[in-house]
Amino acid sequence: MNEEQRLENQQVESTNSPDKKSTEDYSKYFDKVMTAPSLKDAKQRGKEEVKYQNDFAISEEFRGMGEGRKFYIRTYGCQMNEHDTEVMAGIFMALGYEPTESVEDANVILLNTCAVRENAENKVFGELGHLKVLKLEKPDLLLGVCGCMSQEESVVNKILKTYNFVDMIFGTHNIHRLPNILHDAYMSKEMVVEVWSKEGDVIENLPKVRRGKIKGWVNIMYGCDKFCTYCIVPYTRGKERSRRPEEIIQEVRHLAAQGFQEVTLLGQNVNAYGKDLEDLFNYRLGDLMDDLRKIDIPRIRFTTSHPRDFDDHLIEVLAKGGNLMNHIHLPVQSGSTEVLKIMARKYTREQYLELIRKIKAAIPDVSLTTDIIVGYPNETDEQFEETLSLYKEVGFETAYTFIYSPREGTPAAEMQDNVPMNVKKDRLQRLNSLVNESSAEAMKKYQDQIVEVLVEGESKNNPDVLAGYTSKSKLVNFKGPNSAIGKIVKVKITQTKTWSLNGEMIEQQEPVEVK
Ligand code: SAH
Ligand code: SF4
Ligand code: F3S
Repeated sequence: MNEEQRLENQQVESTNSPDKKSTEDYSKYFDKVMTAPSLKDAKQRGKEEVKYQNDFAISEEFRGMGEGRKFYIRTYGCQMNEHDTEVMAGIFMALGYEPTESVEDANVILLNTCAVRENAENKVFGELGHLKVLKLEKPDLLLGVCGCMSQEESVVNKILKTYNFVDMIFGTHNIHRLPNILHDAYMSKEMVVEVWSKEGDVIENLPKVRRGKIKGWVNIMYGCDKFCTYCIVPYTRGKERSRRPEEIIQEVRHLAAQGFQEVTLLGQNVNAYGKDLEDLFNYRLGDLMDDLRKIDIPRIRFTTSHPRDFDDHLIEVLAKGGNLMNHIHLPVQSGSTEVLKIMARKYTREQYLELIRKIKAAIPDVSLTTDIIVGYPNETDEQFEETLSLYKEVGFETAYTFIYSPREGTPAAEMQDNVPMNVKKDRLQRLNSLVNESSAEAMKKYQDQIVEVLVEGESKNNPDVLAGYTSKSKLVNFKGPNSAIGKIVKVKITQTKTWSLNGEMIEQQEPVEVK
């Protein structure tokens, strides 16, 4: 099926097809067909088969489109979003564009956005305000908004009304259409909007320009079907679909052969990996990790795990260690069974603790980190206290903590909420004090210890110092030769801080031999 047919099908599938689309808003601005997002459509999870495509190619008519032009992409979201930026950079380069680090120099600027919380969105609207000035100075500049915010109807409406100097909006399922979208934007005086709300495809051979040669991201699955009641991601990223294991294994092998030292397997809920691969009998994340650990690459990580599907086989495989890192990020969100129920996380406090017990029993040296939301609608003080007590009971080393942010279209956004913002802020502060204390405690254990550090480069704050991460993802700053960059070296820790360690390099290892 070619791109046009695919687009047509997509539109036919949608109950909200262009001519039926809630047009009052859009028609004021357009007299041409566009594909705008629909959260209602995005919620439908069809049974249609996942199409695996390997036929991405830059069509003749677009070759050389980028000659003499430069692109700049700013990324706001998670690792998945960062990795999408690498793919879009790959497409730009294939079209002949050159990258630039400066917005002033760019002929095309893309904002690759995140919709997970309101402040992520506000940053983007703020940036659009700044870019308006540049756009007025340089009318030839193309300005695009892509990523998760583009999948939200309200955001697209707001851009159409308030930021109508934007040239293109495209969604997370439309990245491979970037050449066509750019082409349309050059040709059209109107904003080009192409956002498919449902997508069941996996496109394998998109070009990528990876940021760096030391650590690489590898998607293992796309989308999320969990629909936690607060979360926008299942609407912005589509249904769960796994890549074929052979494609993943080949990509990791390829990275290893290029000298990469670490891969992070990506998915919104990596523990659901394989559920949709019906022809492979029960091949799940544990099986994938068991296959990947045999590849000659020093470090393998994965993110993000959902506690619900974290099965015994996965624990068993992770316990084999080797290049499978002993750090597990396992978002708990709340320590209260009642709140977890309202969040639709589908586990209780006790089940989470039981899972942690099993993980610790199998991997005694494991480092555990988590994500927590405070101030969920109607969260009581007692329920919040349960989060604090669970945090201590697990002994998390650190956490990402958030105040609940209502997301339009999600069930939680409809809930009455009796918790005032000052109470939410106070809870966040109390939780953060515990997180800081625990992180400092965890760091103290490293005093005078020798750790293995994958050296990523010069420290951001001090070019005389090198920086890298331990197997448990602890940041280490130390003095050492630049030749250590890209290698795993031994460092003796001389000072511990709340969020990082300082040390001295004691030995330089050769990187793992590449076969
Ligand atoms: N797929 C991952 C997380 C994706 S979002 C997972 O399930 O773990 C990353 C984190 O953002 C979540 O773990 C959650 O803690 C937080 N988050 C998501 N939606 C949020 C919202 N509406 N308000 C506040 N925090 C939110
Ligand atoms: Fe959001 Fe829940 Fe899916 Fe994570 S598992 S992306 S929190 S819906
Ligand atoms: Fe944000 Fe989308 Fe990632 S909402 S967290 S960029 S999946």
